Amino acid sequence: MAGRSAARTHVRSYIATPVRSVAGRLRVPGDKSISHRALMLAGVARGRSRISGFLDSEDCLATLGALRAMRVRVERPDATTVIVDGAGADGLQAPDHDLDMGNAGTAMRLYMGLLAGQRFTTRLVGDASLSRRPMERVAAPLRSMGARIDTTAGRPPVTLHGGMHLHGIRYELPVASAQVKSALLLAALFAEGCTEIIEPAPTRDHTERMLRGFGVELQLEDRRTRLVGPVLPTACDVVVPADFSSAAFFLVAGCLAEEGALRLDHVGMNPTRIGLLEILRSMGARIEVMNAYTSGGEPIADLVVHPSDLRGIEVPRELVPLAIDEFPVLFVAAACARGETLVTGAEELRVKESDRIAVMADGLRALGAVVDVLPDGMRIQGGALQGGSVDSRGDHRVAMAFAVASLRAAAPIHIDDTANVSTSFPGFVAYARRAGLALEERG
Ligand code: S3P
Repeated sequence: MAGRSAARTHVRSYIATPVRSVAGRLRVPGDKSISHRALMLAGVARGRSRISGFLDSEDCLATLGALRAMRVRVERPDATTVIVDGAGADGLQAPDHDLDMGNAGTAMRLYMGLLAGQRFTTRLVGDASLSRRPMERVAAPLRSMGARIDTTAGRPPVTLHGGMHLHGIRYELPVASAQVKSALLLAALFAEGCTEIIEPAPTRDHTERMLRGFGVELQLEDRRTRLVGPVLPTACDVVVPADFSSAAFFLVAGCLAEEGALRLDHVGMNPTRIGLLEILRSMGARIEVMNAYTSGGEPIADLVVHPSDLRGIEVPRELVPLAIDEFPVLFVAAACARGETLVTGAEELRVKESDRIAVMADGLRALGAVVDVLPDGMRIQGGALQGGSVDSRGDHRVAMAFAVASLRAAAPIHIDDTANVSTSFPGFVAYARRAGLALEERG
């Protein structure tokens, strides 16, 4: 734990120098959401699961470390392959220390669901950013399933008391959150009776798709999901596609470039994840989708992006949950587009790894962009960007978004506090350079 904390306080920075061309062919690392879920389901399943294309990032390693701490046997023949011998019913063992989720909100929230119905007590902790994030949205419905959970004024550390018997509930989510939905579905595996979850708007549905892959029956109907427990998942093999949310930086980079064409291979194209594609296309982006197929219940395709003349739009509110992690780089695209872009209905951005509305607005203004901050979004006047210094405030997606902004900046951009890029996109600098960006890392 000491080593992890030390790595996290090690502040790095980027210098991104403007270039004209973005080109080549990349397969970005595996999907973060799917990697977390595959580990957790494999961890409690009956039998041996093989996960390939696993995202070898700090966030997913926090999930993996917690499984090992609960005595699940995990082998890693290589960095992106994980073999898990599932613990089966009642097979997880009490960890002898707190489980450190680092920067990973998904790991913490999903583990709250998975561990709320265990025989033993667990304490989940996180880094400074995660320790500021709301956890009652998960704790409250889990308590009504019978769990005993303490949060710290609504935030981590979170203690899940053991020996509680869970029962199914009917729950209407007050916020569109895949993490809350998934936590409740994982708790429902250990709960007696039917758990019914109703979403206010569609959110990513990887948990539902993967549960079916692990042999768990679900009833899905419109925005309603029902699972009858207790039920034990059966081990299966999972092939993790490339993360659309990582590909997103290169989709915007390819649009902002003056020349070249960039191909992104084997990208996860789950319709609940690709809101950015629709938004960018309505801004005028030239993105081709090729070789579409489905694997393990998840749609996958290759994407080719070309330099594009982007224009500002009003982003449809219903697309917000489907593009929730892509707003940092979308704000950059908007700042480089012709005309005004308006984003509303995106107040969830304020409780991500940073307050992504405030932090992006500060950075864009430092580069000369004209933006109005709204309580639930931003109004951005597209135009020319200057060089300058921006602070990512330790937010991985903010750091990568400003690296992409350099494509349209008049001078280099210095980006501070970039170490957390490795929580979701290990090797980002090398990938960016392969695509033609002039990105240097310091510190
Ligand atoms: C995630 C869901 C989203 C997203 C996060 C990953 C998931 O959060 O922002 O990066 O894997 O379920 P919310 O469900 O809280 O919106």
